[in-house]
Amino acid sequence: MSDSMLGRNLALELVRVTEAAALTAGRWMGRGDKEAADQAAVDAMRLVLGSIAMDGVVVIGEGEKDEAPMLYVGERVGGGGGPGVDIAVDPIDGTRLLANGMPNSIATVAVAERGALFESRHVMYMQKIAVGPEAAGAIDINDTVEANLTRIAAAKGRQIPDLTVVILDRPRHEGIIEEVRAAGARIRSIPDGDVAGAVMTAMEGTGIDVLLGIGGAPEAVVAACALKCMGGDIQCKLWPRNDQEWRAVAEHRLDVDRVLGCDDLAAGDDVFFAATGITDGDLLRGVHFHGDGATTQSLVTRSRSGTIRKIDATHRLNKLRQYAAFPFD
Ligand code: FBP
Repeated sequence: MSDSMLGRNLALELVRVTEAAALTAGRWMGRGDKEAADQAAVDAMRLVLGSIAMDGVVVIGEGEKDEAPMLYVGERVGGGGGPGVDIAVDPIDGTRLLANGMPNSIATVAVAERGALFESRHVMYMQKIAVGPEAAGAIDINDTVEANLTRIAAAKGRQIPDLTVVILDRPRHEGIIEEVRAAGARIRSIPDGDVAGAVMTAMEGTGIDVLLGIGGAPEAVVAACALKCMGGDIQCKLWPRNDQEWRAVAEHRLDVDRVLGCDDLAAGDDVFFAATGITDGDLLRGVHFHGDGATTQSLVTRSRSGTIRKIDATHRLNKLRQYAAFPFD
């Protein structure tokens, strides 16, 4: 696809999408209502996606059509008239974090050429290993934790005890945690949000070197888009969680041994990723409201250029309300 079709301005359009989701969802911080927070983010994201000149299909979304009224898998979004693209949305990665007033919830969106994003409709989890640019090429999901950490440390010119591994705090990770401890690396445990965890491996200053563990399959695709843009690396494998998913694996002849790399999860050479902080976190500052406005911090990146932009924005809410049916109340 030529540069003029998926133009670089799309990156800035996408920041508006995640800013809108974060601004509206940010109102729900600590209010204990996950559903309302998610609905606010989805509504805002859908509204702004509709204003972008593109012919998008949601590949990673809020669920199947019968369970999600908006941003469901297969929904066509965008103002039309532009290029045909795949869209991955995670309007809130860390819904529980946001509802409980905890750090590190973010709004994310990714766009790639049509047919480029991996669809995982039957298996909802993946096993993952992700690293930033310095350790790209040094990971092998089929190898032991210790062997991976040894290679990652070497690639970064460090020793294993200098590495910090981010892992979702789940009982299923007991084995991995034991292996990381035995190898001698440090662990950063997160209650939720492994998209942010994966992206942190590629951002200087976060202190995170590796993401390990099992998390959402949709989140794996979104993280792959980000890491592809940022020069990082990710490998995943489908992780069926119950009999129903194992039956689907058999029925659809899915290969649970297949190693899905960055290019399998997000193919093509024109991938875009944007994220905006909702609650304050290690990756991005969250939404801060003040009087008639609010500030946001976002990250936007594109695989073709590899440029990573951090965007601080000040929003005048009364102005935004004038220009769009923006749900900021
Ligand atoms: P949501 O915000 O969409 O609920 O996802 C949060 C999250 O922590 C993801 O970052 C992660 O991939 C997934 O949930 C892990 O799933 P589970 O909570 O079932 O272990």
